[in-house]
Amino acid sequence: MRHILVIHGPNLDLLGRREKDIYGETTLNQINQMIEEEARELNCEIRIKQSNSEGEIVSFIGENRDWADALIINAAAYTHTSIAIRDAIAGVEIPAVEVHLSNVYRREPFRRNSLIAEVCVGQITGFGPQSYLLALRASIDILKEISKKIRNL
Ligand code: DQA
Repeated sequence: MRHILVIHGPNLDLLGRREKDIYGETTLNQINQMIEEEARELNCEIRIKQSNSEGEIVSFIGENRDWADALIINAAAYTHTSIAIRDAIAGVEIPAVEVHLSNVYRREPFRRNSLIAEVCVGQITGFGPQSYLLALRASIDILKEISKKIRNL
């Protein structure tokens, strides 16, 4: 069974109450339930973590390096600032998918700069809670592709 880490960064615990015009009404609990349902359908195991602290996110990535096959991360504001999270993702050598609820390219210019994009396989941005479900499917596809390549070596 595939093991997938899902990380939610700062302020995402406030979803449903925070800037609803941008992030919608769905709470983080509801998003996590949707992710868990999708994971059951895709037959993969997930570990989910939300943290407002950069250091905790870095530690969580490192602590799960031997468990995780892939990583889905909405680093929220740390996307635009955190070299530490970027380095943590690069360091574990696990395929990562960057996620955003809002379309960061339709907002303030500073949100167009992601420090983690370079160490992720790809980015899914602007589909609301669905972004996470698309990322889950993308992760499974990425892992299938990697297994195929290894088998053909
Ligand atoms: C976000 C976009 C970020 O720019 C912002 O700081 C967030 C949420 C999103 O999911 O759309 O907190 O990552």
